[in-house]
Amino acid sequence: MIDGDVQFDANGRLRHCLTTEGLSGDQVREILDLAESFADVNDKSIKKVPLLRGHTVVNLFFETSTRTRSTFELAAKRLSADVLNIDVARSATTKGESLLDTIANLRAMQCELFVMRHPDSGAAHYVAGHVDEAVHVINAGDGQHAHPTQALLDVFTIRRHKPAFADLSVAIVGDLRHSRVARSQIHALRALGTRDIRVIGPRTLLPAAVESLGVTAHDDIDRGIADVDVIIMLRLQRERMEHALLPSEREYFAGWGLTPERLRRARPDAIVLHPGPTNRGVEIHSAVADGPQSVILEQVTNGIAVRMAVMALITGNAPGQPA
Ligand code: CP
Repeated sequence: MIDGDVQFDANGRLRHCLTTEGLSGDQVREILDLAESFADVNDKSIKKVPLLRGHTVVNLFFETSTRTRSTFELAAKRLSADVLNIDVARSATTKGESLLDTIANLRAMQCELFVMRHPDSGAAHYVAGHVDEAVHVINAGDGQHAHPTQALLDVFTIRRHKPAFADLSVAIVGDLRHSRVARSQIHALRALGTRDIRVIGPRTLLPAAVESLGVTAHDDIDRGIADVDVIIMLRLQRERMEHALLPSEREYFAGWGLTPERLRRARPDAIVLHPGPTNRGVEIHSAVADGPQSVILEQVTNGIAVRMAVMALITGNAPGQPA
C-alpha cells in the first residue's frame, strides 16, 4: 500500500491530491460542496473566476487521455490559470531525461501545479515526495493504483441524484483487477458512508482479497445488481492484462455486459455510470449507455467543476480558505 500521508501538509491540510484512501467524509464533502459552486460558474455565459490567476498548471500525461486531460485544462483555464500541456511523446523524456529532472525543469519555469498521469503505480506519490513546498501534485491516474479526481467526480454525480450515501446499494462491475478508478471509488464511497458496495466480475478480474476493502464480491452479475441504486461499469483494460484472463469479448458481454434486460434487475430509478472510455458491446450495450438511466456524459461535465475544486483547495485559493 502506498502511503497517502504525503498529500497532507503539517497542518493536516490537503496539499496534493494523490488518492482518496484516507480522506474523511468531511474532506470529501468539502470538495464536493466547493465543486457545486463551480458547477454554477460553468453554467454562466462567462465561465471564469480569478482564483488561480498568476498560477501555472502543467498537464503531464505519460498515458493517453481524452476526458481527464481536457477537463483539467478547462478547469485550470476557468480558474484563470496559465496552462502548459506537455507533449510527452515529443519531450526530452524520450532522450532519457528522468521524471524528477523533467519536473525540476518545469519548476524552473515557475510552474507550480502538476497534473500527472503515469503508467507506474506510485509515480505521483514519488514526485510529491520530492518537490518543494510551493508545488502541488494531482494524480490523474497512476498504473493500477488510484485516480482520485475520477472517483470524486463520480461521487459528485451520484450525490446529485442520490444524496443519502448510507442508504445506497452500489454495484461496480467489470475489470476491477486492473482498475485504479474502482479502488478510488470504493474509498470515496466508504468515506461518505456507503455500506453496500458490491464488486462484480469474473473471478479472474477481481483482485485477491478484494473484500478487505469493505465490499462484497460476486461473479454473477444478475444476482449482484439485483435492486441496486447505482451501477458503475468499468472498461476491460486489455492493455494491462499480461495473461489471458478472459474468454472472448462476445462471451464477456454475454456474461457480464450491461444490457437493457439486465438493467431491469436494478431498482427502476437506478443510475448507470462509466468513467469512460466505453466499449459498446463489450461491457455496456449502446441502449444503456445512451439510455435515460445513463449519467455518463454528466460525469464528464461534472469533471470540470470537481477538478476546479481540487485545484483551488490544494493551492489554498478556495473562497474562504485561510491563507
Ligand atoms: N476516465 C478517464 O480517465 O478517461 P480518460 O482516459 O479519457 O482521461
